[in-house]
Amino acid sequence: MDSTEQIKALEWVEGKLKLLDQRKLPEREEYGFFDSAEEVADAIRTMQVRGAPAIGIAAAYAVVLAARQQYECSSENWKEAIEADLKLLSESRPTAVNLFWALEVMGEEIAQIDGNPYRQLLDKALEIHNDDIQANKAMGEFGAAYLQSEEGLMTHCNAGALATGGYGTALGVVRSAVKKGIKTVYASETRPWMQGARLTVWELYKDDISATLITDSAASWLMKQGKIHWVIVGADRIAANGDVANKIGTYSLAVLAKYHGVKVMVVAPMSTVDWDCPNGEMIPIEERDQSELLNPIYDGKVSAWNPSFDVTPAELIDLIVTERGVVERPDNKAMQTLR
Ligand code: MRU
Repeated sequence: MDSTEQIKALEWVEGKLKLLDQRKLPEREEYGFFDSAEEVADAIRTMQVRGAPAIGIAAAYAVVLAARQQYECSSENWKEAIEADLKLLSESRPTAVNLFWALEVMGEEIAQIDGNPYRQLLDKALEIHNDDIQANKAMGEFGAAYLQSEEGLMTHCNAGALATGGYGTALGVVRSAVKKGIKTVYASETRPWMQGARLTVWELYKDDISATLITDSAASWLMKQGKIHWVIVGADRIAANGDVANKIGTYSLAVLAKYHGVKVMVVAPMSTVDWDCPNGEMIPIEERDQSELLNPIYDGKVSAWNPSFDVTPAELIDLIVTERGVVERPDNKAMQTLR
């Protein structure tokens, strides 16, 4: 069984969206069933479903739920009524552009519909989901082609089956690379949500891929030992000049990689590329609540800063791998080859 069968972060089941509650992993594999756009927006906000492509796919299914509900209320005015649902979904998280991309694609579909929207919108959402899996498999092969079997890989956060429609972006490359004989894979814990420790290592363990977990702060020392040749990460938004927003800590890894002669590969589908965003400075960076870092005993006397993402400048990135092709040494001009 491959990971797209084994690990399903989201699935459309009997007219509802079934989500694996990622906050409970690895201790418990618990699923919830979602019936409205409001519930899905809450699941995105509270990180039950997370990871840029998975957020986009969840939003697409949420539009199906919203359309069904609004059409049942009024077959005349459902298109006006659904605007509030689209707005609610668009406000669930700010950084991953796949959310806005999926809402736009579904919005274009809505504009063409006459009559009951359910079947047409569901087909579109299923297509978005399936296309993402196919893109991941293609990127897995493209990225793995750059790797040699004796090389060591390191990944950050979770960019696997859980964060996508299936197979994964960065972890898709890792999966394809392991099939080709790569044996050394490190994952960083990824504070504060611990996506590396709780999700990435769990996925790899389920796939029988042996990975070594490190604290975020051990990365430089590991690179110093010469154990890492590639840092391979996903992305939440890629600007037109190749700057990449990804999980907080990605920028530090890219700076460290430069110093130690380690290469950086970013793996993301075209739905993560934001052509309207000229550079990384324009990417909205989510700041999450300080309570995620602080012990309640400080009771307002100590503050914390909790950005969820950072931006790695294109000049620190060696490769951007998409399903449309690979951009080497990204910049404005090189990115145009993906257009
Ligand atoms: O806050 P999260 O868990 O949604 O952040 C996820 C990441 O930053 C991933 O690395 C990114 O979305 C790439 S997912 C394929």
